[in-house]
Amino acid sequence: MIKVKSLYVCQQCGYKSPNWLGKCPNCSSWNSFVETVTPSTKFGSTRPRNANAGPKKLSEVEKIKLGRIPTGLVEFDRVLGTSNAFSGVVPGSVVLVAGDPGIGKSTLLLQTAAKIGGLYVAGEESAEQVKIRAERIKGNFDELFILSETDVDLIIEAIRSKEYRFVVIDSIQTLVTGDLDGSAGSVGQVRECANRLHRLAKENNLPIFVIGHVTKEGAVAGPRVLEHLVDAVIYLEGERYHSFRILRSIKNRFGPTAEIGIFEMTDKGMVEVANPSALFLEERGEGAGSIVVPTMEGSRPVLTEIQALTSPVSFGLPRRTGSGVDYNRLQLLVAVLTRRAGLNLQNQDIFVNVAGGLKIFEPAADLAICLSIASSVLDKSISSGAVAIGEVGLLGEVRRVGNMEKRIAEAKKLGFNKFITPDQAKTLKEALNLAFKA
Ligand code: TYD
Ligand code: MG
Repeated sequence: MIKVKSLYVCQQCGYKSPNWLGKCPNCSSWNSFVETVTPSTKFGSTRPRNANAGPKKLSEVEKIKLGRIPTGLVEFDRVLGTSNAFSGVVPGSVVLVAGDPGIGKSTLLLQTAAKIGGLYVAGEESAEQVKIRAERIKGNFDELFILSETDVDLIIEAIRSKEYRFVVIDSIQTLVTGDLDGSAGSVGQVRECANRLHRLAKENNLPIFVIGHVTKEGAVAGPRVLEHLVDAVIYLEGERYHSFRILRSIKNRFGPTAEIGIFEMTDKGMVEVANPSALFLEERGEGAGSIVVPTMEGSRPVLTEIQALTSPVSFGLPRRTGSGVDYNRLQLLVAVLTRRAGLNLQNQDIFVNVAGGLKIFEPAADLAICLSIASSVLDKSISSGAVAIGEVGLLGEVRRVGNMEKRIAEAKKLGFNKFITPDQAKTLKEALNLAFKA
């Protein structure tokens, strides 16, 4: 066996030191040392030569057929990707599922593990605690194995000793290898443990889901450290006080990154949401300051309500606050409303909110944001059957956006009958006239 010893390496310049240093003596960066395993062999000398290695023509490289294992949850599979009409996780791939603590990562992956069968490694909880969670969600747990362990090398040994179809690691921040001195969750440990799991996945063609908590910058390493080490990075998002959860992939070597999966956290685990538009519009408010916009989430249109509230400034500078919308975009739209549509917003505080906690960063929502603000400041409500679609330019023009037909079809399906789009209104002024016409 190769003897391994650890070294601390400056992440900025590569300077090596046998112990941790606060400041790099070579490049003077602060806090840049990360513990790293260094095999005590010289680079290259003992590497076995692979006959297939070396450059070859791209046209001669054979195309591999990606197999996929369905997770049993359509919403999850959509995010993981589809090939040859099969959706799900690609064997041999490592998928990082990241999110805030308490958002439902363990619940989602336990449900998946129960559907596929395999090994669930619980680093944070005892097997008994996992059992309690398993009792809340339905599923067939006959083929599910639980291992409560944090030593990555013992975990790998356990995985090698039996042919599992699927492995969940909950969570990467609890794992350690004895080859490093750092504590669990340190950048060095997280990176090395992930590396070893990645190698195992490739060698055994085994799909591994790794859970990672999003953490504040600091001593504990968050999913960012792992992003380039894994094949796919999926975030589970949601507001703690809202029940729905969104799975969104931000990196995917084997699939799309635009698709999202929508779930609702119930007392029986995560339930797939087949009709998100209906969910987001369920508690729609009445009155001035509200309009609906069909946004595209991946290839699906989802209807969401935009709400705005304006109120005279009582003290100091006017405030602009957006929740679920981009702050700079909001500032820009307020300026366009003021200059191009003649609305008096200089002495108004403006709050804009995407109902239900969804985040919308598409310019297609510009027109709806503008109309909701106008509706509030003019105190005139817009017909509850209206939707607005369009990007707003600096000259106050309303522009077409992609997928108009899909968006309109979804709105029609949910009973909307008034469409404020670039086809009806070329400018913001025209759109305002149309929206407030009796
Ligand atoms: P959990 O999956 O433990 O979150 P994470 O692994 O991301 O930290 O779930 C956290 C919350 O979900 C917890 O407060 C309890 C709640 N929950 C439900 O609402 N329904 C359920 O069926 C389960 C198992 C948990
Ligand atoms: Mg958990």
